[in-house]
Amino acid sequence: MERYAQLSPIIFGSGSIRVVGEEVKNLGCTKVMLVSDETISKLDAYKNCKKSLIDQGMEIVPFNKVVADPPDYMINQGGELAKAEKIDGIVALGGGSVMDAAKAINVLVNNPLPVNQYLGNPVYNPGVPVVVIPTTAGTGSEVTIMGVITDTVNHIKSAVLCPATLGVLDPEVTIDVPPSVTAYTGMDAFAHAAEAITTKFPNPKSEVLALEAIKKVSSYLPIAVSDGKNIKAREELLLASNFAGMAFNDALVHLGHAISHTAGAAFHKAHGIVCALALPEVMKYSASARADKVQLIGAAMGVSFAGDESSEEIGEKVAEAIRQLIKKIGIPSVNELGLSKEEFTGLASKVMEDVCYQYVPRELSLEEVTGILEAIYENY
Ligand SMILES: [Fe+2]
Repeated sequence: MERYAQLSPIIFGSGSIRVVGEEVKNLGCTKVMLVSDETISKLDAYKNCKKSLIDQGMEIVPFNKVVADPPDYMINQGGELAKAEKIDGIVALGGGSVMDAAKAINVLVNNPLPVNQYLGNPVYNPGVPVVVIPTTAGTGSEVTIMGVITDTVNHIKSAVLCPATLGVLDPEVTIDVPPSVTAYTGMDAFAHAAEAITTKFPNPKSEVLALEAIKKVSSYLPIAVSDGKNIKAREELLLASNFAGMAFNDALVHLGHAISHTAGAAFHKAHGIVCALALPEVMKYSASARADKVQLIGAAMGVSFAGDESSEEIGEKVAEAIRQLIKKIGIPSVNELGLSKEEFTGLASKVMEDVCYQYVPRELSLEEVTGILEAIYENY
């Protein structure tokens, strides 16, 4: 088992879910809300987590109502329950939606409802310790300050700003994730890394972490998709997700995530799928601003460069390598997701209003964004 620290400390290693109870107790908690979803609550990981908490004498308040793209009203329900039960800790077991929901519920523990008033607002009374255990390798939510939820008043995705207190990364917990979910959550991590490197505000620490994440995803995601029980691949992907999370928590993400958030809010398409689909064209566009950074991404994927390529050529080479990767792991096209070209390109103006759009490396016109959406539709 290994431990390292940044925004929130991490415990990493197979079987680490069994120390959750002890860790939660060390944080001074006695009554915790166990946040999860219907599917996860039936798995062994949930039983193991619960047992670990009960063994330490913890009282548990279950909240299994989290759904994908957690809506504000569901967070408010969780917040009401947390207040009524006077919980003094939160444990989240699940994917990005569960972890983000737990962070958002925590914002409500010592503050009035509804959650909407805290979206993008860091000013609120601190909540209780939150321990998160990811069951998918992708969001890196254990080390980011963001808790992304759906604002159903304005029909957009937005975020509370609340870090977790501790992340417990147990690769064994992720071995039952089906191939399709493994594929798109892994590509979410890749997108965090690739966008963090090419963002408007890059930094050296993020770049190191992001490049390592890209290496790991490129090498191990196809293995985990074809052989879910490969524990080495699961370990590497959890680390990749974690490193990419640290990378983008500092450097932030840009156009690909603006597109994914917008498509997610409008058509409820899985976040990681749209991130994956957007990425080749986002890299081509990014090369027009920072070809050197896009070349680093390609090199981390194993793409070789002669050294005399133009920015466009670098962009296209990396885009093609990403297309091959996502084909190999079975990411469906926009068309296969059931969206028409008009529906998809019609998102352009909303994409430019998304909070992540502020971090694009080069300002774009509406026509250019529409063109990029068109290329995403046509080139894959
Ligand atoms: Fe993401």
